[in-house]
Amino acid sequence: MKRTHHCNEIRPADAGKTVILEGWVHSRRDLGGLLFMDIRDREGRTQTVFDPANLPAAIFDSAARLHSESVVRVTGEVRLRPNGTDNSRIATGQVEIIVKAFEILNAAAVLPFAVDDPEIANKVNEELRLKYRYLDLRRPEMIRNLRLRSKVAIATRQQLDEQGFLEVETPTLFKSTPEGAREFLVPNRREAGTFYALPQSPQQFKQILMVAGVERYFQLARCYRDEDLRADRQPEFTQVDIEMSFIDREDIYALIEGLLQRVWRVALGREIPLPFPRMSFFDALDRFGIDKPDTRFGMELVDFTADFQGSAFKVFQSVIASGGVVKAINARGLAGATQGQLETMTEYAKSFGAKGLAYIKVENGDWKSPIVRFFSPTEKEALTTKLGIQEGDLILFAADQWLTACEILGKIRLYCAEVLKTQGKLVIDPTAFNFLWVVDFPLLSFDRELNRWYSSHHPFTAPVEDDIPFLKTDPKKVRGQHYDIVVNGVELGGGSIRIHQPDVQKTIFEDLLQIPPAETQLRFGYMLEAFRYGAPPHGGIALGFDRLCAILCGSTSIRDVIAFPKTAKGTDLMTDSPSTVSPRQLRDLHLEIKGAVKDVPPPAA
Ligand code: AMO
Ligand code: AMP
Repeated sequence: MKRTHHCNEIRPADAGKTVILEGWVHSRRDLGGLLFMDIRDREGRTQTVFDPANLPAAIFDSAARLHSESVVRVTGEVRLRPNGTDNSRIATGQVEIIVKAFEILNAAAVLPFAVDDPEIANKVNEELRLKYRYLDLRRPEMIRNLRLRSKVAIATRQQLDEQGFLEVETPTLFKSTPEGAREFLVPNRREAGTFYALPQSPQQFKQILMVAGVERYFQLARCYRDEDLRADRQPEFTQVDIEMSFIDREDIYALIEGLLQRVWRVALGREIPLPFPRMSFFDALDRFGIDKPDTRFGMELVDFTADFQGSAFKVFQSVIASGGVVKAINARGLAGATQGQLETMTEYAKSFGAKGLAYIKVENGDWKSPIVRFFSPTEKEALTTKLGIQEGDLILFAADQWLTACEILGKIRLYCAEVLKTQGKLVIDPTAFNFLWVVDFPLLSFDRELNRWYSSHHPFTAPVEDDIPFLKTDPKKVRGQHYDIVVNGVELGGGSIRIHQPDVQKTIFEDLLQIPPAETQLRFGYMLEAFRYGAPPHGGIALGFDRLCAILCGSTSIRDVIAFPKTAKGTDLMTDSPSTVSPRQLRDLHLEIKGAVKDVPPPAA
């Protein structure tokens, strides 16, 4: 007795056949003595009908008493639904099964929440859904996400296999490296005080694989980062990790464009146009105030530094005098913002370092603003033309050093876009995918607090060839051969052409990043040594696989495309992890816990 069909398979042409279905009790309705039960499996659902007239009373009663989500087997005859009772929303909506035999394979207890409610994601809090993740995953939407993720993984493997890439697994018990995010450590039982670290990415191994002559490597790699979690960040996540030898940046662009084109075809049946546009890091910040611009809408940052050079408005004038800039955006349609809303916006801007957020509301033909009385007619004229000012506009200003001013307005631009979206004044095409390569990042950024340079991407990124002479004279001028792939304002991935000459790598570590030689040796000695034995020029990229799937599913959180994600606090509510361990385990690992420890489990048997 096995099922003859899945629950999304039976069609009018099957009328008269005897079929067996197995699945979960999705929903039940009692209508005029007849019992209608929808049986659901991974593929969909089918309506079955229990008629007391031709079923033993015991069977009818057991079906009527059964809780939702019980697992059942139904044998019955397919018939067309009576006129007017078709359900056009499901594929099996024209048929139903008249039950002849019925078995309960496993009766379910009363559920913590209703799985068949299409509004569940809005009604039931996420913590409860994560605790009962196996129930949440039964929702058709979640099954769809898992299916799509699987398809995308397989298409990725096929595409890269066809292009001559080898899939190689690299260790997840790695060693601690100082750059980047905080790491997860694993204590070593065999030697007190030593630790493995879980890799933040397979970066070093994939470069070593190039030295090993693999030439083209990829991996769907699990990565671990102990950083603050958000909707697009999990402590463990997956990268499509890629590395190639004897290539330049153009090879990576072409490879990724081809891969994403195939993925979009397979997952959504959509043809995405190639090549993707490119934008320099400078332009991205200057025009959008962020290194991952959402180019689906405008509201670009406009520069007014030259226009306010000698302004009577002291704030602007003094910022410009000290080498800063004045920039503005036009939030079209937001002139109705209340004083309270403007204050909220100002506070938000201040949380990113703004000293204020000057504004002009254009209402009833008037410029309402505490500062316009300082503006000259020429300054007003410049604003009107460059921002295309019209009735209903809200103009917002940032006066600061270039980077700070850009970043503040970049945040405010996104904030205004969200407000405009909820008011229906900004409509973004839900089917638009605006891909963008962001290129020409500075190789190094300066940390004012620590008074030292740090790598904008990671320390293995090669400088742009022409800029190498500036490494010693003017490091801020040096561009890295780094690229990010961005879609709709999301950083999907990033990578670079790497340094393959040991002396250049050593200069970066020691002279610029000021890592003491002994530490360089300790952390990266093996890499520098490997580079001495014939390292080919190489480069690569990693795409955030969870982010990729979330974008394809139209989800705002990567939790929706990960089978067992963690909460914002890094916990797994289903298995209740992280958890305490026994004193004996601690002793074996040479660890002692300071401070209160709650819920220590009994010693292991
Ligand atoms: P990077 O650190 O930019 O580069 O990471 C590449 C991509 O991984 C995704 N990502 C994450 N996804 C979910 N949760 C996280 N916590 C998380 N952190 C990163 C992002 C990001 O763009 N080794 C280099 C790549 C290279 O140079 O080849 C690297 O890891 O989508
Ligand atoms: P003040 O003259 O300091 O009262 O500022 C007048 C207006 O300019 C207020 O709306 C402030 O929020 C705004 N403002 C002050 N400093 C800046 C700045 N650096 N950039 C943009 N707006 C500012």
